[in-house]
Amino acid sequence: MHAQVNGTQMAYTDEGAGRTLLLVHGFPLNRQVWSPQVAAFRRDFRVIAPDLRGLGESWGTADPVAMDRYAEDLQALMTHLNAGPVILAGHSMGGYVALAFAKAFPQSLAGLVLVATKAGSDSPEAAAARRASAERVWAEGSSVVVDAMAAKMLSPGNSDPAMAAEVRGFMTASGPEGIIAALLGMAGRPDAGAWLGQIQVPTLVLAGADDAIMAPAEAVALAGGIPGAQLKVIPKAGHLVAFEQAEVFNAALGSWLQYERAGASNGPDQPRCC
Ligand code: MLT
Repeated sequence: MHAQVNGTQMAYTDEGAGRTLLLVHGFPLNRQVWSPQVAAFRRDFRVIAPDLRGLGESWGTADPVAMDRYAEDLQALMTHLNAGPVILAGHSMGGYVALAFAKAFPQSLAGLVLVATKAGSDSPEAAAARRASAERVWAEGSSVVVDAMAAKMLSPGNSDPAMAAEVRGFMTASGPEGIIAALLGMAGRPDAGAWLGQIQVPTLVLAGADDAIMAPAEAVALAGGIPGAQLKVIPKAGHLVAFEQAEVFNAALGSWLQYERAGASNGPDQPRCC
């Protein structure tokens, strides 16, 4: 499905009925990466998974897209679809977007699931490396990024060539403009760390124990900064934890969703769920 929102055309999946679970993919991926979660949670939720501006099948240009802008797109899409307040799950760059959404649209947020992500901004060196990558993508094409990331998406012990090929396919579906826009947007993103303590919705932080892109220590720090946040580190999982260990991931998310539904709110006295 496609919708014209916020000056772009967004592609999205919208399945099931009930409370809205909004799934936001990372870089340079698309909504297909959430297919095991759409299949599992559409039984009990309205599951919406968009392609972010310029990635997958959504339109975009090579102009930098700030995390705030992606968040505004999500809010516009939810308004268009008459959906929400949402339980928002964001993976990696999708987590940066989820934090921007939580800050800008707290009234639209019922819960937060932060997957293989962090609150911090890029160091000057990391930002410079992203800008250099953007220039290389402009000159040489998306394969520069796809080749660099493909090897790090799954855990080192994963020897499933079909899964690796599927993951590569998710990345090659994104065009160079959207990849450049996202690289430049991530390079300029602010540090969300000081603001984490203001998050008031129930929050779950999930990480892959073998993530070569986002160290599990980032998840520990993130969960530590959000009042009452739950933390789960999933074994034998790399950066794409929700796809690589879908069953274990879905069980953790499912039990947290039940706990969250029972009326959990953040705070030091709240029971731990997972
Ligand atoms: C992602 O998976 O979205 C990216 O690796 C995030 C990043 O590069 O910071």
